[in-house]
Amino acid sequence: MPGIVIVGAQWGDEGKGKITDLLAEHGDAVVRFQGGNNAGHTIVRDGEEWKLHLIPSGILYPGKRCVIGNGVVIDPKVLIDELDALRARRIDVSGLRISANAHLIMPYHLLLDSAGEAKLGKLQIGTTRRGIGPCYADKAARLGIRVQDLLDEKILKKKIVAAMEPKRLSLRPFEKDPTLDLHTMTEEYLVYGHRLEQHIADTSKLLWELLEDGQKVIFEGAQGAMLDIDHGTYPFVTSSNPLSGAACVGTGVGPKAIDEIWGISKAYTTRVGAGPFPSELHDEMGETIRKRGGEFGTTTGRPRRTGWLDLVALRYAARLNTLTALVLTKLDVLSGLDRVGVCTSYRGAEGAEFDDFPYHQTVLHHTTAQLTELKGWQEDLGECRTLSDLPDGAREYVQFIEEHAGTPVALIGVGPGREQVIWTDAGLDSIIGPGEGARATV
Ligand code: IMP
Repeated sequence: MPGIVIVGAQWGDEGKGKITDLLAEHGDAVVRFQGGNNAGHTIVRDGEEWKLHLIPSGILYPGKRCVIGNGVVIDPKVLIDELDALRARRIDVSGLRISANAHLIMPYHLLLDSAGEAKLGKLQIGTTRRGIGPCYADKAARLGIRVQDLLDEKILKKKIVAAMEPKRLSLRPFEKDPTLDLHTMTEEYLVYGHRLEQHIADTSKLLWELLEDGQKVIFEGAQGAMLDIDHGTYPFVTSSNPLSGAACVGTGVGPKAIDEIWGISKAYTTRVGAGPFPSELHDEMGETIRKRGGEFGTTTGRPRRTGWLDLVALRYAARLNTLTALVLTKLDVLSGLDRVGVCTSYRGAEGAEFDDFPYHQTVLHHTTAQLTELKGWQEDLGECRTLSDLPDGAREYVQFIEEHAGTPVALIGVGPGREQVIWTDAGLDSIIGPGEGARATV
């Protein structure tokens, strides 16, 4: 620290919320830098469950700065509902700051997302239908509505008209939809502006000041490397960059502010939506992992596709992000298995073996996972707090991953509670500093 980035190293849903929540305890500010309410974080604290979609996980700590950066796309209705729900549970939300440059999800983005998917039929991506793609498309087309526009009625109206004009044809089927009425929409968004005004700020400057002051800032990513619009399994990706590099552009700080980059990976793999997934399990084992891991989407409730841990993809994510450490979540889910599979390479349609992620999508689509089977373990891991508490099979599994991913494991999740983790020396050194805190012994 001072600047630590937390990113998903798979296809999202790796448990980043819990890890951000843990690190937030040692940090001064938490900032989101991309994505929108397509993300969903579940945090369990003192037996209470919190579900957040837009607001950074640090909000649960009194006095921490929480920031929604310029790279995020914001559905203001969702944000306000989330603020109200937190307030109703007596959480102080006054420390939240929202970038004036962040783009807004508009009613037509939601309609276009669903219509776009319907049109694709069998080729659909399986988006969360939250309007994310159409909003980022407008941003790139320079037709976006930004948070700051909420504070200027004339500009807001003008920009909405300009943004809707080129969409007239695709919006024709929704002509009668009341949310598309210009007057209603402008009024609705002006009200959102009033509600959010106290939180709107120049967040790039705010973060610069915090970092200059030596404060610890946690950059919280959404989704995961394999859903990256440039480096993921395009077109079956999200519309932003969930990679560490985006933490800078998505918040307005330079790369030198970043000291640590932690990649979060489950001990197995999941994916929601369509697209290639070489280590997917279509059998009983896949169902077992889904049930034991509670693998149903926080945002959409969809059952997640499940499979063995994919080390080819993990190595790729480690490289794309320059990970300094790996966090392995949900290791406890694999307890009770005689053998645990792990994908160490891919085999292409013509028999070629791939240790590295294939750059060509057609090749990737036809690969099959080459599995190594490791000894399993029967014991429940919920009470393990050091590496030496882990049964042999679990410890050997962690070591195998560390070696093959080429990245040290900092933290291991062994249950849903925030105390159910194992800190390794590598993790303690980078967060608390060498020589301090309890040391885990292997
Ligand atoms: P979109 O981000 O809603 O446009 O969806 C694009 C793809 O990203 C779909 O396959 C979604 O299922 C996936 N996706 C988006 N957000 C998340 C997430 O937070 N976790 C996992 N998958 C996600």
